[in-house]
Amino acid sequence: MTQKLILDLDTGIDDALAISYALGSPEVDLIGIVGTYGNVLLQQGIRNDLAITDLLGHPEVKVYQGLPHALKKDSFEVQPVSAFIHGQNGIGETVIPDSDREPENESGIDFIIDAVKTYGKDVVYVPTGPQTNLAAAIRKAPEIIGQIGKVVLMGGALTVPGNVSAWAEANISQDPDAADEVFRSGIPATMVGLDVTLQTLLTRKETEQWRQLGNAAGRFLADMTDFYIKAYETTAPGLGGCGLHDPLAVGVAIDPTLVATLPINMQTDVEGATRGRTIGDPDKLNDPRKTMQVAVGVDAPRFLSEFMTRITNVARSAKAE
Ligand code: RIB
Ligand code: CA
Repeated sequence: MTQKLILDLDTGIDDALAISYALGSPEVDLIGIVGTYGNVLLQQGIRNDLAITDLLGHPEVKVYQGLPHALKKDSFEVQPVSAFIHGQNGIGETVIPDSDREPENESGIDFIIDAVKTYGKDVVYVPTGPQTNLAAAIRKAPEIIGQIGKVVLMGGALTVPGNVSAWAEANISQDPDAADEVFRSGIPATMVGLDVTLQTLLTRKETEQWRQLGNAAGRFLADMTDFYIKAYETTAPGLGGCGLHDPLAVGVAIDPTLVATLPINMQTDVEGATRGRTIGDPDKLNDPRKTMQVAVGVDAPRFLSEFMTRITNVARSAKAE
Protein backbone atom coordinates (compact mmCIF):
# COMPACT_ATOMS: atom_id res chain seq x y z
CA MET A 1 0.00 0.00 0.00
CA THR A 2 1.14 3.58 -0.65
CA GLN A 3 2.71 5.04 2.48
CA LYS A 4 0.56 7.61 4.27
CA LEU A 5 2.77 10.62 4.93
CA ILE A 6 2.12 13.18 7.66
CA LEU A 7 4.32 16.29 7.79
CA ASP A 8 4.69 18.30 11.02
CA LEU A 9 6.08 21.69 9.99
CA ASP A 10 7.17 25.10 11.28
CA THR A 11 6.94 26.52 7.75
CA GLY A 12 9.79 27.91 7.20
CA ILE A 13 11.66 27.94 3.84
CA ASP A 14 13.10 24.45 4.02
CA ASP A 15 9.76 23.21 5.41
CA ALA A 16 8.15 24.68 2.28
CA LEU A 17 10.67 22.72 0.21
CA ALA A 18 9.75 19.61 2.22
CA ILE A 19 6.09 20.10 1.22
CA SER A 20 7.17 20.46 -2.41
CA TYR A 21 9.31 17.31 -2.24
CA ALA A 22 6.42 15.34 -0.74
CA LEU A 23 3.99 16.56 -3.41
CA GLY A 24 6.46 15.49 -6.09
CA SER A 25 6.75 11.96 -4.69
CA PRO A 26 4.26 9.45 -6.10
CA GLU A 27 5.46 6.83 -3.59
CA VAL A 28 3.60 8.61 -0.76
CA ASP A 29 0.14 9.96 -0.12
CA LEU A 30 0.38 13.23 1.86
CA ILE A 31 -2.64 12.77 4.14
CA GLY A 32 -2.09 15.85 6.28
CA ILE A 33 0.15 18.60 7.56
CA VAL A 34 0.23 19.34 11.29
CA GLY A 35 1.35 22.87 12.10
CA THR A 36 3.90 23.67 14.77
CA TYR A 37 5.90 26.71 15.95
CA GLY A 38 9.59 27.49 15.47
CA ASN A 39 10.71 29.38 12.39
CA VAL A 40 7.41 31.26 12.71
CA LEU A 41 4.42 31.34 15.04
CA LEU A 42 1.98 28.43 14.68
CA GLN A 43 -0.65 30.54 12.89
CA GLN A 44 1.83 31.93 10.36
CA GLY A 45 3.10 28.44 9.60
CA ILE A 46 -0.44 27.19 9.01
CA ARG A 47 -1.16 30.18 6.78
CA ASN A 48 1.95 29.28 4.77
CA ASP A 49 1.00 25.57 4.54
CA LEU A 50 -2.44 26.41 3.14
CA ALA A 51 -1.11 29.05 0.73
CA ILE A 52 1.77 26.88 -0.54
CA THR A 53 -0.35 23.78 -1.16
CA ASP A 54 -2.80 25.98 -3.08
CA LEU A 55 -0.05 27.58 -5.15
CA LEU A 56 1.44 24.18 -6.00
CA GLY A 57 -1.97 22.97 -7.19
CA HIS A 58 -2.76 20.69 -4.22
CA PRO A 59 -5.67 22.24 -2.31
CA GLU A 60 -6.73 18.73 -1.28
CA VAL A 61 -3.97 18.60 1.37
CA LYS A 62 -5.51 19.03 4.82
CA VAL A 63 -3.80 21.22 7.41
CA TYR A 64 -4.25 20.72 11.17
CA GLN A 65 -3.35 22.93 14.12
CA GLY A 66 -0.73 21.56 16.46
CA LEU A 67 0.43 23.07 19.74
CA PRO A 68 1.64 26.70 19.78
CA HIS A 69 4.53 26.32 22.23
CA ALA A 70 6.78 23.86 24.08
CA LEU A 71 5.24 21.36 26.51
CA LYS A 72 6.67 23.07 29.59
CA LYS A 73 6.15 26.66 28.43
CA ASP A 74 3.05 28.79 28.05
CA SER A 75 4.12 30.95 25.12
CA PHE A 76 6.53 31.16 22.20
CA GLU A 77 8.34 34.00 20.50
CA VAL A 78 10.16 33.75 17.20
CA GLN A 79 13.92 34.23 17.61
CA PRO A 80 15.44 37.11 15.57
CA VAL A 81 17.81 34.64 13.88
CA SER A 82 14.82 32.65 12.57
CA ALA A 83 13.34 35.79 11.00
CA PHE A 84 16.75 36.54 9.48
CA ILE A 85 17.04 33.08 7.93
CA HIS A 86 13.41 32.50 6.87
CA GLY A 87 12.01 36.06 6.71
CA GLN A 88 9.35 37.58 8.97
CA ASN A 89 6.69 35.62 7.08
CA GLY A 90 8.71 32.39 7.03
CA ILE A 91 8.84 32.23 3.24
CA GLY A 92 11.62 34.71 2.54
CA GLU A 93 9.26 37.74 2.32
CA THR A 94 7.77 36.35 -0.90
CA VAL A 95 4.17 37.39 -1.45
CA ILE A 96 1.73 34.61 -2.37
CA PRO A 97 -2.06 34.70 -2.11
CA ASP A 98 -3.74 33.63 1.11
CA SER A 99 -5.76 30.45 0.77
CA ASP A 100 -9.52 30.66 1.14
CA ARG A 101 -9.35 27.38 3.04
CA GLU A 102 -9.19 27.07 6.82
CA PRO A 103 -7.32 24.51 8.93
CA GLU A 104 -9.35 21.42 9.88
CA ASN A 105 -11.46 21.47 13.05
CA GLU A 106 -9.89 18.30 14.44
CA SER A 107 -6.77 19.05 16.50
CA GLY A 108 -3.42 18.04 15.07
CA ILE A 109 -2.81 15.75 18.04
CA ASP A 110 -6.07 13.85 17.51
CA PHE A 111 -5.38 13.68 13.78
CA ILE A 112 -2.02 11.98 14.42
CA ILE A 113 -3.65 9.43 16.73
CA ASP A 114 -6.59 8.77 14.39
CA ALA A 115 -4.29 8.39 11.38
CA VAL A 116 -2.20 5.78 13.20
CA LYS A 117 -5.38 3.94 14.30
CA THR A 118 -6.62 3.97 10.70
CA TYR A 119 -3.48 3.25 8.69
CA GLY A 120 -1.14 1.66 11.30
CA LYS A 121 2.22 0.60 9.86
CA ASP A 122 1.54 2.50 6.65
CA VAL A 123 1.93 5.82 8.50
CA VAL A 124 5.23 7.64 8.16
CA TYR A 125 5.45 10.74 10.33
CA VAL A 126 7.97 13.45 9.46
CA PRO A 127 8.40 16.28 11.98
CA THR A 128 10.69 19.04 10.72
CA GLY A 129 10.22 21.39 13.66
CA PRO A 130 10.04 20.78 17.42
CA GLN A 131 8.87 17.37 18.70
CA THR A 132 6.04 18.92 20.74
CA ASN A 133 3.08 17.56 18.75
CA LEU A 134 4.43 14.02 18.56
CA ALA A 135 5.27 13.98 22.28
CA ALA A 136 1.73 15.18 23.06
CA ALA A 137 0.21 12.47 20.85
CA ILE A 138 2.34 9.81 22.58
CA ARG A 139 1.28 11.12 26.01
CA LYS A 140 -2.38 10.95 24.98
CA ALA A 141 -2.26 7.59 23.20
CA PRO A 142 0.96 5.72 24.07
CA GLU A 143 -0.22 2.68 22.11
CA ILE A 144 0.65 4.49 18.87
CA ILE A 145 4.32 3.75 19.66
CA GLY A 146 3.84 0.15 18.60
CA GLN A 147 1.26 0.85 15.89
CA ILE A 148 2.92 3.53 13.73
CA GLY A 149 5.08 2.66 10.71
CA LYS A 150 7.97 5.00 11.43
CA VAL A 151 9.03 8.50 12.38
CA VAL A 152 11.71 10.26 10.34
CA LEU A 153 12.57 13.49 12.09
CA MET A 154 14.71 16.44 11.07
CA GLY A 155 16.60 17.56 14.13
CA GLY A 156 19.58 17.01 16.34
CA ALA A 157 23.28 16.53 15.79
CA LEU A 158 25.26 13.48 16.90
CA THR A 159 28.66 13.73 15.22
CA VAL A 160 28.81 17.49 14.56
CA PRO A 161 28.14 20.61 16.67
CA GLY A 162 24.69 22.16 16.98
CA ASN A 163 23.54 25.24 15.11
CA VAL A 164 22.06 27.27 17.99
CA SER A 165 24.73 26.33 20.51
CA ALA A 166 27.77 24.10 20.60
CA TRP A 167 25.39 21.21 21.41
CA ALA A 168 21.90 21.99 20.30
CA GLU A 169 20.22 21.95 16.90
CA ALA A 170 17.37 24.45 16.39
CA ASN A 171 14.37 22.09 16.26
CA ILE A 172 15.45 20.11 19.32
CA SER A 173 16.35 23.27 21.24
CA GLN A 174 12.78 24.57 20.91
CA ASP A 175 11.51 21.75 23.14
CA PRO A 176 14.23 19.44 24.48
CA ASP A 177 11.76 17.86 26.92
CA ALA A 178 9.47 16.79 24.08
CA ALA A 179 12.42 15.45 22.07
CA ASP A 180 13.61 13.44 25.07
CA GLU A 181 10.13 11.96 25.58
CA VAL A 182 9.96 10.94 21.92
CA PHE A 183 13.49 9.52 21.84
CA ARG A 184 13.05 7.46 25.00
CA SER A 185 9.52 6.35 24.16
CA GLY A 186 10.67 3.47 22.00
CA ILE A 187 8.85 4.75 18.90
CA PRO A 188 10.74 3.60 15.79
CA ALA A 189 12.53 6.75 14.64
CA THR A 190 15.28 7.85 12.29
CA MET A 191 17.06 11.07 13.22
CA VAL A 192 18.09 13.09 10.18
CA GLY A 193 20.23 15.77 11.80
CA LEU A 194 22.91 18.28 10.95
CA ASP A 195 25.34 15.35 10.51
CA VAL A 196 23.81 14.82 7.07
CA THR A 197 21.63 17.84 6.26
CA LEU A 198 24.64 20.14 6.09
CA GLN A 199 26.05 17.87 3.39
CA THR A 200 23.07 18.48 1.09
CA LEU A 201 23.43 21.98 -0.29
CA LEU A 202 21.53 23.98 -2.88
CA THR A 203 22.87 26.97 -4.84
CA ARG A 204 21.41 29.72 -7.05
CA LYS A 205 22.33 27.63 -10.08
CA GLU A 206 19.55 25.20 -9.15
CA THR A 207 17.00 27.80 -8.07
CA GLU A 208 17.40 29.52 -11.43
CA GLN A 209 15.99 26.38 -13.08
CA TRP A 210 12.73 26.95 -11.17
CA ARG A 211 12.62 30.63 -12.17
CA GLN A 212 13.05 29.64 -15.81
CA LEU A 213 9.82 27.61 -15.65
CA GLY A 214 8.12 30.98 -16.05
CA ASN A 215 5.15 30.38 -13.74
CA ALA A 216 4.16 31.62 -10.27
CA ALA A 217 5.15 28.39 -8.51
CA GLY A 218 8.62 28.41 -10.08
CA ARG A 219 9.17 32.09 -9.23
CA PHE A 220 7.98 31.52 -5.65
CA LEU A 221 10.33 28.58 -5.09
CA ALA A 222 13.29 30.41 -6.64
CA ASP A 223 12.76 33.75 -4.84
CA MET A 224 12.05 32.10 -1.48
CA THR A 225 15.08 29.80 -1.66
CA ASP A 226 17.39 32.59 -2.84
CA PHE A 227 16.46 34.48 0.35
CA TYR A 228 17.55 31.40 2.34
CA ILE A 229 20.79 31.04 0.36
CA LYS A 230 21.58 34.71 1.02
CA ALA A 231 21.04 34.22 4.77
CA TYR A 232 23.37 31.22 4.71
CA GLU A 233 26.07 33.37 3.13
CA THR A 234 26.04 35.35 6.41
CA THR A 235 25.37 32.60 8.97
CA ALA A 236 27.55 29.92 7.36
CA PRO A 237 30.02 31.63 5.01
CA GLY A 238 32.07 29.13 3.09
CA LEU A 239 29.45 26.36 3.20
CA GLY A 240 28.65 26.97 -0.46
CA GLY A 241 24.86 26.88 -0.41
CA CYS A 242 21.88 26.38 1.90
CA GLY A 243 21.24 23.23 3.93
CA LEU A 244 18.34 21.12 2.67
CA HIS A 245 17.41 20.02 6.20
CA ASP A 246 13.69 19.35 5.99
CA PRO A 247 13.43 17.97 2.43
CA LEU A 248 16.18 15.46 3.27
CA ALA A 249 13.99 14.07 6.06
CA VAL A 250 11.17 13.59 3.54
CA GLY A 251 13.63 12.04 1.10
CA VAL A 252 14.81 9.54 3.72
CA ALA A 253 11.23 8.73 4.72
CA ILE A 254 10.56 7.73 1.11
CA ASP A 255 13.94 6.15 0.36
CA PRO A 256 15.96 5.14 3.45
CA THR A 257 18.89 4.10 1.22
CA LEU A 258 19.77 7.78 0.76
CA VAL A 259 21.53 7.67 4.13
CA ALA A 260 23.79 5.38 6.14
CA THR A 261 22.48 4.98 9.68
CA LEU A 262 23.80 4.04 13.10
CA PRO A 263 21.39 1.99 15.23
CA ILE A 264 21.43 3.56 18.70
CA ASN A 265 19.03 4.35 21.54
CA MET A 266 19.04 8.12 21.93
CA GLN A 267 18.20 10.71 24.57
CA THR A 268 18.08 14.49 24.66
CA ASP A 269 19.80 16.29 27.52
CA VAL A 270 17.20 18.31 29.41
CA GLU A 271 19.29 19.66 32.31
CA GLY A 272 22.33 21.87 32.64
CA ALA A 273 24.61 23.47 30.10
CA THR A 274 24.09 20.79 27.45
CA ARG A 275 20.26 21.09 27.43
CA GLY A 276 19.18 20.27 23.88
CA ARG A 277 22.07 17.92 23.08
CA THR A 278 21.05 14.72 21.26
CA ILE A 279 23.23 11.79 22.34
CA GLY A 280 23.19 8.06 23.03
CA ASP A 281 21.26 6.99 26.14
CA PRO A 282 23.88 5.41 28.44
CA ASP A 283 21.18 3.41 30.25
CA LYS A 284 20.25 1.65 27.00
CA LEU A 285 23.72 1.27 25.53
CA ASN A 286 23.69 -2.48 26.05
CA ASP A 287 20.06 -3.00 25.15
CA PRO A 288 20.20 -5.22 22.04
CA ARG A 289 16.97 -3.65 20.81
CA LYS A 290 17.73 -0.32 19.15
CA THR A 291 14.62 1.76 18.52
CA MET A 292 16.38 4.64 16.79
CA GLN A 293 18.65 5.09 13.82
CA VAL A 294 20.80 8.17 13.37
CA ALA A 295 21.77 9.19 9.83
CA VAL A 296 25.54 9.63 9.73
CA GLY A 297 26.23 9.51 6.00
CA VAL A 298 24.32 10.66 2.92
CA ASP A 299 24.49 10.13 -0.81
CA ALA A 300 24.30 13.87 -1.46
CA PRO A 301 24.53 13.80 -5.29
CA ARG A 302 21.69 11.25 -5.53
CA PHE A 303 19.53 13.20 -3.08
CA LEU A 304 20.13 16.49 -4.92
CA SER A 305 19.15 14.85 -8.18
CA GLU A 306 15.93 13.47 -6.64
CA PHE A 307 15.25 16.83 -5.00
CA MET A 308 15.53 18.80 -8.24
CA THR A 309 13.56 16.28 -10.30
CA ARG A 310 10.66 16.01 -7.87
CA ILE A 311 10.31 19.70 -7.00
CA THR A 312 10.74 20.86 -10.59
CA ASN A 313 7.98 18.45 -11.65
CA VAL A 314 5.62 19.83 -9.02
CA ALA A 315 6.37 23.44 -9.96
CA ARG A 316 5.96 22.67 -13.68
CA SER A 317 2.58 21.02 -13.08
CA ALA A 318 1.27 23.97 -11.06
CA LYS A 319 -0.76 26.63 -12.87
CA ALA A 320 1.08 28.18 -15.84
CA GLU A 321 1.00 31.92 -15.19
O1 RIB B 1 18.18 23.22 12.20
C1 RIB B 1 17.45 23.22 11.00
C2 RIB B 1 15.97 23.19 11.29
O2 RIB B 1 15.59 24.36 12.00
C3 RIB B 1 15.09 23.14 10.06
O3 RIB B 1 13.96 22.34 10.32
C4 RIB B 1 14.67 24.58 9.89
O4 RIB B 1 13.45 24.69 9.20
C5 RIB B 1 14.57 25.06 11.29
O5 RIB B 1 13.33 24.76 11.83
CA1 CA C 1 11.72 23.25 9.93
